[in-house]
Amino acid sequence: MMSLEIGSFFDLVCYLGEMSDDISRPIREFPDCGHGGPADRIFTHNSTHVFGDDSDGKDRMMDVSVFSTRPYDRRFLTAANASGAHRLNFLEPRLTVDTAKLAAGSQAVCVFVNDLLDAEILRILADIGVRLVALRCAGFNRIDLREAARLGIHVVRVPAYSPHAVAEHAMALMLSLIRNIHRAYNRVREGNFTLDGLLGFDLSGKTVGIVGTGKIGTVMARILTGFGCRVMAFDPVRNATCLQMGVEYADFDEMVSAADIITLHCPLTPQTRHLIGAGSISRMKPGVVLINTSRGAVIDTRAVIAGLKSGHFGGIGLDVYEEEGDLFFEDLSEHPIQDDMFARLLTFPNVLITGHQGFFTVEALSAIAATTISNISTFENTGKLVHEVTLDMLYPAADAS
Ligand code: NAI
Repeated sequence: MMSLEIGSFFDLVCYLGEMSDDISRPIREFPDCGHGGPADRIFTHNSTHVFGDDSDGKDRMMDVSVFSTRPYDRRFLTAANASGAHRLNFLEPRLTVDTAKLAAGSQAVCVFVNDLLDAEILRILADIGVRLVALRCAGFNRIDLREAARLGIHVVRVPAYSPHAVAEHAMALMLSLIRNIHRAYNRVREGNFTLDGLLGFDLSGKTVGIVGTGKIGTVMARILTGFGCRVMAFDPVRNATCLQMGVEYADFDEMVSAADIITLHCPLTPQTRHLIGAGSISRMKPGVVLINTSRGAVIDTRAVIAGLKSGHFGGIGLDVYEEEGDLFFEDLSEHPIQDDMFARLLTFPNVLITGHQGFFTVEALSAIAATTISNISTFENTGKLVHEVTLDMLYPAADAS
């Protein structure tokens, strides 16, 4: 058993380094989960658990079933739970009606963005004694909050982790596209050192439009300012930090038609659904580069494909996709892609797609794990709910990821 006192970020990184072999270890097949698909494997984890001291009645332990566990979730949550505050039961399947009973014996479930908590699943969880849902993400659009409230199940989340993680990923997509790094990578590996087709352009001096200048959009504005860009923004709320940086707020149409590059950092709401559609695309400059690390449905994918076919777009960088729930976070490499729109997107050489990995940094995962364990501990030890998701938050911000 490995024991660890996490005294510093450096300790955490060393610990993760020591555990790095885990990622390649096979995961035990679990044949009886119901679906038979790639998510239907399970592993449990008890061996590194250190029991907490509840002799004085203050530090009480919870049994927590962690759904949609990937090796990285296990690592970071185990590190955050190094004091043995809770008994974590790591389960690889998503939370569905078929897998909910795997939480038997747990008072809490810990879930991720694509886990489903509809009324039926919540009732199964309530019946087996679950009192707390701990989301290890900010979004809560897949939970029936009314039913949870009726059943007396509390919901907590991680409202913020690392805006730098997402902004820097958006920047990576942007730079790769405008310098054709993704194409050069493949070409050089095949021994082709020609430059034809790889012509890029300088970022310095270009106009970049940001949609949504909240936490991530503000970091993005700072990065772009450092590159010497003119930064325009569209957001119903003007951000003082952005104004100080010299960001120029404009209405949506003005910003969209002036920008050489547009990057999306707003939540998905009824107002932003398909904000980028045929109308707005027609107002964009020919050769415009569009980056989306916010939510897939902010873009009308059909309209974007039409813009790609006509040659209107210089490049498209996506970390999110409208129908990503059927694709992302799973290894589908042995299966034909059933989503024809997604398959079409993959055919364009100026489209670069990552599978919702904007949040995926050491810093963000550390913060998510620490907040999740702290949310559970506070509830168990004091009965208080930090970062609670309440019914009044249902509209309009229910789609933040
Ligand atoms: P935030 O809440 O700090 O900022 C959102 C901003 O969007 C606010 O300034 C808000 O006023 C603005 N906004 C709201 N409605 C708008 C509209 N109709 N038009 C323009 N702007 C509007 O959120 P944060 O943390 O900056 O995250 C932004 C988005 O990034 C999230 O909603 C989520 O969809 C996405 N995200 C993606 C991740 C990834 O891994 N790819 C990870 C985390 C978040």
